[in-house]
Amino acid sequence: MKVPFFDLSPQFQLIGDEVKSALDEVFKSQQFILGQKVEHLEGAIAQYCQTPYAIGVASGSDALLLALMALGIGPGDEVLIPPFTFFATAGAVSRVGATPVFADIDPKTYNIDPSRTEKRISSRTKAIMPVHLFGQCADMDPLLKIAKEKKLFVIEDAAQALGAEYKPHPHSNGQRAGQMGDLGCLSFYPTKNLGAFGDAGMVVTNQPHLAEKIKLLRVHGSKPKYYHKWIGINSRLDALQAAILLVKFKYLERWTTERQRRAERYSVLFRDLLPSVPGLRLPTIQYENRHIFNQYVIRVPERDGLRKFLTEEGIGTDIYYPVPLHLQECYAFLNHRKGDFPVSEKAAEETLALPIYPELTEEQQTVVVDRIRAFYQKRAQGV
Ligand SMILES: Cc1ncc(COP(=O)(O)O)c(C=O)c1O
Repeated sequence: MKVPFFDLSPQFQLIGDEVKSALDEVFKSQQFILGQKVEHLEGAIAQYCQTPYAIGVASGSDALLLALMALGIGPGDEVLIPPFTFFATAGAVSRVGATPVFADIDPKTYNIDPSRTEKRISSRTKAIMPVHLFGQCADMDPLLKIAKEKKLFVIEDAAQALGAEYKPHPHSNGQRAGQMGDLGCLSFYPTKNLGAFGDAGMVVTNQPHLAEKIKLLRVHGSKPKYYHKWIGINSRLDALQAAILLVKFKYLERWTTERQRRAERYSVLFRDLLPSVPGLRLPTIQYENRHIFNQYVIRVPERDGLRKFLTEEGIGTDIYYPVPLHLQECYAFLNHRKGDFPVSEKAAEETLALPIYPELTEEQQTVVVDRIRAFYQKRAQGV
């Protein structure tokens, strides 16, 4: 049995008709940029993220860029980010002319390690950009404390973490990803828990003046039309994408619960393997956080060999991310070397994302873990 790493077709079978009629409404309205559908989606996401404001933009990458622009971060400024993340986190910092400064990650959660963050602050530091990687919130309390003490902005890269919650209590929900910092940035890239049929993103915030500024910046800084208060960009959310996202939003909680169930099922299936495979680690949930499992990432020292074997066996996997950002070619000018951020470097060598999506069957998950077991049995036999 082959198990694809990711498969959106069962989802489309479920919602195809609803999506098509939502698209028809947009075709009839002939309103393709921003407009009512986008406003409805903004309202829904703002409520979901527990923030009063949400601004639809063209992608998660643009959400990060607009957040930095809204805070006036630019040349000469430094922004603290983890080196183990998708490139967009650093790319946005560079695109506003600021410098990304890396702080290493926690080896268990893969999120920026607050205890390594403070040392990286200089007189030029303007903001911290924690990434809620794979769907679990970074350890925000100590980060917010540092930011408050040092008067830094906090931009949450919540691209992978819509609906994730930080430190829930037994009788109350935790804080939703995106609402803890000054600005939260979301991505609706198709592989996200809430994915568009193309690119789309959103910025959420509690602060009205930032919401207003981002609303202007996404339309070249103009208000009224053709009168430009700021130098912005074109980063408007399409009505067609908003219409699709509004349909999918109705299923988001259900789909996220299904992902969480699959993560639990992996824990059960891996139970007997864990003691016999040195270095095998499953995802760690900190503080009983609400992890939304945008990715299910395991860790094994022999990652590349395992991945090759799984590919031959028809099991899809992926690597997020093979090269930490401080070692990327485009950042050679920062003069980092291997060894500068050892926790991120090791994570880049050892982590492997397994298939996880709401429709993944028990049989498919059993096959995934069986094949991993077969790899280690062969190794034990010296094959
Ligand atoms: C951590 C992180 N930041 C930013 C982004 C950028 O989002 P987008 O692909 O929508 O531009 C992504 C998306 O893949 C991401 O995973």
